Amino acid sequence: MEQTYISPRQSGRSSLEPDEKRVAYRDAEQQLAGLLAGLDDPVAVMASAASVLFHALPQASFVGFYRVVAPGLLRVGPYQGPVACIEIPFERGVCGAAARHGKTQLVPDVDAFPGHIACDAGARSEIVVPLWRRDEELVGVLDLDSHHLAAFDELDQEGLERIGRLLREHL
Ligand code: SME
Repeated sequence: MEQTYISPRQSGRSSLEPDEKRVAYRDAEQQLAGLLAGLDDPVAVMASAASVLFHALPQASFVGFYRVVAPGLLRVGPYQGPVACIEIPFERGVCGAAARHGKTQLVPDVDAFPGHIACDAGARSEIVVPLWRRDEELVGVLDLDSHHLAAFDELDQEGLERIGRLLREHL
């Protein structure tokens, strides 16, 4: 009989040990590579990635995309989690900083980040990874929130930046 995949979130976990995190990212990357093969529809790509990552990473309360829709302006895209803010200018928030600097923002305590935007009052830590298309155009950012302090670390940064490089071929 075919085995059904049970994700870390579905199995009731709320955090992952480092080795489990590595496995979760490896599994998520493999699952996404299969789902995205031959796909170049950004909505389908982002929706699938948000779902795969949300279920793979139980420490995340929110996994979603913000897209560059005009110069200096991000607008929400597909996501999983509580209702998110619709628009974020590049000069605001953690998402804006990632877009403005073109660099991953790893924020262990959102209260210590000047200008953090609290879409979800329960959010305590966050990681935001900038995303580029194959033609080097910045297309948006991938944003993860957690209700726990310092829920994201270098393993998340490495895993999410790898996912970003995979998405690059499909956005
Ligand atoms: N906290 C983000 C805003 C987006 S929400 O987390 C979904 C920020 O400061 O940019």
